[in-house]
This record gives sequence, structure tokens and C-alpha cells, in this order.
Amino acid sequence: MDDRIDQLLAKLDLPAKLRLISGAGLFRLAGDPGIGLAEMPISDGPSGVRGESMDEPDPSVSLPSGTAVAATWDPELLTEIGALIAAEARRKDVYAVLGPTINLHRSPLGGRHFESFSEDPLLTAEMAAAYVRSVQANGVGACPKHYVANDSETERFSVDVQVSDRALRELYLYPFERAVEAGAWMIMDAYNGVNGAAMSDNPLLDEPLKGEWGFDGVVVSDWGAVRTTEAASGGTDLCMPGPPMLWGEPLLAALDAGTVSEDAIDEKVRRILRFATRVGALDGTPLPTQDFTDNQARNLVRRFTTQSMVLVRNDGTLPLSPGTTVAVLGPSAAEPRIMGGGSATVFPTHISTPLAGLRAVLPVTHTPGVRLIEGLIAAPTELITDPEIGTPGVRVRYFDGATEIGARHRSIAHMVLLGDELATRATHIEMHARLRADTAGEWQLGFGGIGEVRLDIDGTPAIDENVVDAAGDPVAALLEPPQRSVARILAAGQEVDLRLTIAVPEAIPGLGVLLAFLLGIDRPQRPKDEEFAAAVELARTADVAVVLVGTSEKIESEGTDRTSLRLPDRQDDLVAAVAAVNPRTVVVVNSGAPVEMPWREDVAAVLLTWFPGQEFGDALANVLTGVAEPGGRLPTTWPKTITDVPVLHTTPADGVLAYTEDIHIGYRAWLRAGTEPAYPFGHGLGYTTWSSSDLRVTGRTVSITVTNTGTRTGKQVYQAYLSRPDSTIDRPVRWLAGFTAVTLGSGQSRTVDIDLPRRAFEHWTPEGWEIEPGTFTLHVGTSVTDLPHTTEVS
Ligand code: BGC
Repeated sequence: MDDRIDQLLAKLDLPAKLRLISGAGLFRLAGDPGIGLAEMPISDGPSGVRGESMDEPDPSVSLPSGTAVAATWDPELLTEIGALIAAEARRKDVYAVLGPTINLHRSPLGGRHFESFSEDPLLTAEMAAAYVRSVQANGVGACPKHYVANDSETERFSVDVQVSDRALRELYLYPFERAVEAGAWMIMDAYNGVNGAAMSDNPLLDEPLKGEWGFDGVVVSDWGAVRTTEAASGGTDLCMPGPPMLWGEPLLAALDAGTVSEDAIDEKVRRILRFATRVGALDGTPLPTQDFTDNQARNLVRRFTTQSMVLVRNDGTLPLSPGTTVAVLGPSAAEPRIMGGGSATVFPTHISTPLAGLRAVLPVTHTPGVRLIEGLIAAPTELITDPEIGTPGVRVRYFDGATEIGARHRSIAHMVLLGDELATRATHIEMHARLRADTAGEWQLGFGGIGEVRLDIDGTPAIDENVVDAAGDPVAALLEPPQRSVARILAAGQEVDLRLTIAVPEAIPGLGVLLAFLLGIDRPQRPKDEEFAAAVELARTADVAVVLVGTSEKIESEGTDRTSLRLPDRQDDLVAAVAAVNPRTVVVVNSGAPVEMPWREDVAAVLLTWFPGQEFGDALANVLTGVAEPGGRLPTTWPKTITDVPVLHTTPADGVLAYTEDIHIGYRAWLRAGTEPAYPFGHGLGYTTWSSSDLRVTGRTVSITVTNTGTRTGKQVYQAYLSRPDSTIDRPVRWLAGFTAVTLGSGQSRTVDIDLPRRAFEHWTPEGWEIEPGTFTLHVGTSVTDLPHTTEVS
């Protein structure tokens, strides 16, 4: 392959080479017809493949969040999911998916905690390697991200993370090392700096990534992470997004001046051509991917989702028997949060809500009790009519001053313009609709948008404002533009005329106009206390209360860190009030990352579902009724309160975030502090019981005989930890060294093997990896604190 690549390289002149090392568009790599290289669209990927566009959706299958994936503790399950991701990519003409996110859960406040797998490097690494292998086996590139130490979001574009070599090697780099070993074709570098150098130009891209580990794929910058033209001398191979800016004309000048060498550029182009060969974009066709019908995709995702749900507490109330009457309460019942916020966003064709899922299998009553006020939603298509043609949707008109230069119908009242040609010639755009109120009461009517925006209601100006992007984050402004609204009392069936006018910003050279806006509404609500009391009343009269509480994509999102681990609004009060009237209260927590659960000891059962993707409701119904086992185990420690969390802070001081805890994050830090969390790393219950015996070690393979002693089929995750009480170096109290997931029928026994990588015994020193001679203690069990078996390994 390398000879062929050199021949092609020789055919490219310098401008042609430069065109290849920057993107051609926001999510597109450049092609070169002269050498048979096709343009290569790429897409965000951690929770489904969005595709190139963010507008009027070409829908995607929405998958469980990273935390949910890791909670399966079952890398093999990713084989099928990887095939589905690849099939989605191919359907959308995408050559690489930008995922998985394999940064670590250093602090539960981290805004992208939900998107990453775990606080443990080994669990993260195993899942990362499986993801890479399974997606790439289908001919689509995977792109593990963000290399490296991008574990929180505060000051994300500029923060300098100061971290020791040992913590880097043993914790933060390890998942990337394993992803490279698994053959990753692309790696994304991070916005942040590490130890004084921006990651897009950091020596860590050379060593260990490209040198010691032999990574021969493409290092792509995070979007906008390249800050200088001179960074082209460094390890980033591909500067995104396009079109070429810093690495376009200015780089030609730098090459002329000799501040950047052509050899450096050639090396990048070689890597990009190698990538293109791998994905079938160079003189070839992409590998065919497996076909998934809608039903096959849904069944697969549903099965996967049940495997990710973690039952942390159960007094026997679960599983529910047929005919049990259930009060389904809480804000996430009818409006679940299926994904976190930011670039992991996809637009699914359907969302199975917990309410619908449970209603299909049990007699159900419902009211939310508490509603999370999240602002406006785009006016739903069924409530709006395009006044011009009378069909559901809106009329969009483009104006140049007073002259209309174009118009179109749309079915949704939300628009994201990325390089829309007509917009470059327009001064403003109008979105016009007739809204029919389906409920009487006080409605909020308004918009999301930035710049000069005006809303007219029934021909009268209601809002006219120059809305400023206070956060200064253009990606966030596109995904969630700021909102404004006014209240209007409407009768059921009443119609109002809504006309939104928004000024078109300057086009960005090469990219065109970037603009997002929506015509928004919020329906009338019952007074809060009345709603709360109604939920408690439903709980009182049902056999079981299922309360769905959670956070949201606004609270858990790329771009910001959380400031609290509390459930928003009165959700804790709701659980407490419901539990007080119904002892069989089951709480379902719909958050991507840990939250405080002050009521956890007062309820019958607690099920953690993460951000579970589109099949939430059906998967939940299967788990609650025992059709499926809740197969998940905690990939991260759940604290009792935020004040107990040993590694918490994510706010840089003078631009520096110091990882002073060194190698002690996650359960390692909890064990060292001697503080008891609400639920430990690795914990999770199923619906059967287990016994285990005969722990043996041969070389680096641990074997143990396990038996399902209960009455139904179940899954258990056996975990092996090492410790070194007599060590001469600083070490964690114990650390995960291997694991295996096993499913057995009632009464079945099996001897299972857990392979321990050599690395589990090694520690990093200034001279490299070393093993401290002597005896390690091996512990085996079902969580970091439930380890009944121990033996010695010399
Ligand atoms: C995120 C990346 C993402 C990229 C493209 C960045 O802001 O950090 O994870 O892949 O945007 O959407």
C-alpha cells in the first residue's frame, strides 16, 4: 500500500497537497479527481451517526450514551452495534464516525461524562478496542477522541491540563493505546493543552502515539482546535473543519518562507491517502455493510439497552408481575431524555417513551408531577400550518431588503443553515405559520435565534431584540440558540399568526452562512402544586409507583460542566412524597452521569438507565417486567453527595487545571479516601442469584467456576482486581485487571476465564514500564468492594 501511496503523492503539486490536509467542508474531507480520490463525508458518532447535515432531519438510529455502553461490561455486544453503526454510516455516505469518546470520568461534573465510557482505564480501553474493531470490520473508519486529558469542559478551548507522565500513561493514554492496537484508522486530538502545549501541536502526538505505538492513521484536529499555521509542523494531519483557512493560503506562504517543511506536509498526505485506501475512497468502492431493516435495528438496540440498565437496589419489588397497576410518574415518563447535549446529538425517527412502553404491557395511570422547564420546543408540526398552502409546517421566505428572493415550505419549525446558497444573498429570513392551540391556557410563544430577531403575533410586534451569543460558543449557538418568549392566553382551538424575522449574518469565507433558529412554543401547565399533588394521589392508589427522574441534555452537555449533582426542580421531593404513600416505589433514573439520590434507602428499587437512546421505553418495560435482565454494572462510582466526591474540581486556575490527584481517580480515589459511596464501581443486581468457587491462576489467566443458583436465566459480571499492599511505590488500593460477562440458565455452572494483560501488573517509571518483583494479591468478585475470592500471584 505504501508504494502505491508514494506514487500518488508524487502526482500531487503543493496546492493539491494543501487541499487534502484541511477539510473541504464542515464534515467533509477533500477529494482529488486527478488521483481518483473521492470526497469523504464524516460524521459525529458516539451515540449514532448524524450524517453531514444538522437540518430537516435525515433521521438516524439513536444509541445509548457512552456510560450506558460501558455499563454492559460486555465488549462482545459491540460487535453487532458496530455493524449497525457502520450500516448507518454507509446509508448516509459517511466514511468515518467521530467516536468513541474515550476520555475518563475524572469528575462527575464533567459535561461530557455521559459521552465517555468509564472512570477506569481498562474498562474504557476494552470497550474502545471493541468499538474500533467492530465498526472498522465493516469498512467504516472509527475515530477515538479526544487525545488526551480532555476530561472536562470548563475553558475547554484553552485550558492547560497539568498531569504527570505516570497518570497519563497508566490512565488517560491507556484507552488510546489500546484503540491504536485495535487498529484505529483515525484519532481526534483535543482542544485543551497538556503540560504547556496545545494538543493539536503537542509532542504527545509524536510520542507515544505515532512513534512508540506505531499509529499509521490520521490525526484529525478537533473542530477549530488548530490555532496556528505553524502547527502544520506538528502531529495533526488534518485540520478541521474546512474549507482551508490557517492551513490554506497562509500555509503556502509559510512553506515558501521555510517555516514549515514540505516533508511534514507529505507525511500528512500519506496518512490521509492511507485512510482513503482503507475506507474505499481511493480507486475503490467501500466494503458492503450488513443490511438492517428498521425492525432489526430496533430489536438490536432494545436488547443492547436492556443490557446497559443498572439495578442498584431491589427489595424484591422487581420484576413486576403481570396485571400490576402502575402509576407512571416523573418528568422523564412522557418526555424522556434519550441523549446528552452537544455534538453527540442525532435526530431519531422515533422515541419509545417509558410511558408508552409501560402502557403497552401493564395497566398504567400517569401524570408527571414535576415538569422540567427547559424552555421552548420547536412548534410541533401537527399544530402549525403553512399559511400559503394550508399544509402542516411553515413558510420560509428569503428577502434581500424588501425584495423576496426565494421561498419554500418546511414541515418543521426549526432550521439550521450550514452554507445555504440562497441565504448568502439574503438580508433576512422569515418563518411564518399559523398555530392552532390544542389546550386552553397560558402559552409561551417565542423563538430561538441569535442576532436581530423579531416575532410578530397576529400582525403585532411581540419581541424585537438583538440577541447576543453570551456563551461565545458558535457550535452551541447552532445546536441550542438562545430563546425568548412571551405569554399569551389562548382558547382550545384558537389560531394565532406567528411571523419570525431573523437577520442573516455575514457568510464565513468558504463555509457560507451559519445560522440556526426556531419558532417555539411551550404549552400551558397545571399550577405546580396541583400537578405535584395529582402525582402523589395516583401513587397512593396504584400497586406500584414508577417514578422517572433525570437530568437533561441541557444540564449534561458538551461545552459546560455541571455545577451540581442534584436532580433539577422538585424531583427529589416528588420521590420522597411518592415513597411516603406507596412502599412499592421504583425509581428509574434517566441521567447520563451520577446524580445524588437522597431518597435511595427509602424506596423499593432504583434502576439507572443513563441516556438510553431511542428504544428507552420498550427496553425499560422489558426490564421492569422481567422479560429481560437489567444487564448493567456501574462503570463509574455513584456518590451519596457531591461533598464526598474525592476528585471533583474542573475549574482551571489561571488557565491551568492541575490533576493533583495523580493516578487516583474514580474508585481508586474513593478507596484511598476511605469514603463509602452510594454504590461502588462494578455494582449491579440482576434477578437471579449466583455462587462462585475454585479461583485458580495459570500464568496471567484467572479461572473461576460460577453457578446460577436462582430460578431464571441471568447475567453476571466477574471482575478481577489486583493490589500490592507491600509496594514500595504509590499505588491504588486496588485496580481493575480484567473482567468477563457470563450468562447462564437456572442451575447451570461454568468455569470462566479472565485474561489479565501484562500491563495490569506494570507501572510507569521515567525509564518506561516496569514490574515490581514480588507478590500481587488477586481479588475476584462482582464489584470493587464485593470481592470474596483472593489469591496471590508472584
Ligand atoms: C467536539 C467533537 C466533535 C466536533 C464535530 C467538537 O466541538 O469536541 O467531539 O466531533 O465538534 O462536531
